[in-house]
Amino acid sequence: MDYRSFPLKGLGFIMVSLLLITIITIAQDSSEDGHEFMKDPNRCQECHLGKPVFGETDYRDLKFTDYIVSLCHRCHTKESLGRSHPVNITPSEDMEIPEDLHLDEYMNMTCATCHKPHGDPYTTLKPTDYESPVREFDVRTYRSYYLRRTNIQNALCYACHKR
Ligand code: HEC
Ligand code: HEC
Ligand code: HEC
Ligand code: HEC
Repeated sequence: MDYRSFPLKGLGFIMVSLLLITIITIAQDSSEDGHEFMKDPNRCQECHLGKPVFGETDYRDLKFTDYIVSLCHRCHTKESLGRSHPVNITPSEDMEIPEDLHLDEYMNMTCATCHKPHGDPYTTLKPTDYESPVREFDVRTYRSYYLRRTNIQNALCYACHKR
């Protein structure tokens, strides 16, 4: 074989290698989902009663094996969370709760009021003011914190707390 006709030599080889490494890194990156286990059909019943179906079952029809907050505390202990928001509280009548930041069946605020546990781990919306992107190619990508809304300039907080 004529060495000079081999397409992947010198700079070409380096470029192709870099491209491959980039693709592999992106692929690995986007599979880093701490909540991947929540997609395992054998594990739904750890949290859910009945058989909810993605894209069909409305959150209002969900029943849980325990309080949502206790389900989260199984892995995210109070100690590990540091300062968090009060949960298992019923907001007073005069506080308007937006539909997307909903309460649980007991009308209590839970972790799932602000977080979407089944959400995407990454987002193109900056989640908080201080957060820096995990990737910068054509679109910036941030960790989502599974937030239901971005909290830039405390927008999430002001959704319930009037200024
Ligand atoms: C660690 C606990 C946990 C596991 C495991 C889990 N879920 Fe959930 N799921 C939740 C919580 C918490 C919510 C949010 C409830 C809310 O919005 O009020 C939820 C919401 C849902 C919803 C409503 C739509 C949505 O995305 O918010 C569906 C449907 C659902 N789960 C199906 C499943 C299925 C199917 C499995 C297994 C493949 C599963 N869940 C595993 C905790 C869990
Ligand atoms: C079986 C263990 C487990 C349970 C139960 C669980 N999580 Fe997680 N969660 C993880 C892991 C693992 C990660 C990946 C990052 C880490 O290690 O903190 C994660 C990440 C997160 C993150 C993003 C943290 C970050 O630094 O990016 C949030 C927010 C979160 N979980 C909220 C919740 C909420 C709300 C619940 C309850 C509905 C819940 N989790 C239940 C294991 C769990
Ligand atoms: C009022 C909204 C709100 C509620 C309620 C809430 N969080 Fe969060 N959480 C946030 C925001 C906003 C962030 C983003 C980072 C920050 O500002 O600290 C966050 C960050 C996190 C993180 C990643 C950073 C860290 O501290 O490890 C985890 C894990 C987490 N929340 C879990 C929970 C769990 C579990 C509960 C319920 C006990 C809960 N959150 C209740 C708004 C909330
Ligand atoms: C879904 C509605 C909702 C959202 C979103 C929300 N809060 Fe709250 N917050 C409440 C409720 C309900 C209380 C309980 C007291 C009350 O009824 O006013 C409360 C209480 C508080 C308190 C008093 C805590 C205490 O120990 O008495 C602080 C501080 C607070 N919130 C900060 C925040 C911050 C910061 C954010 C954004 C990360 C936020 N809140 C987002 C509903 C909300």
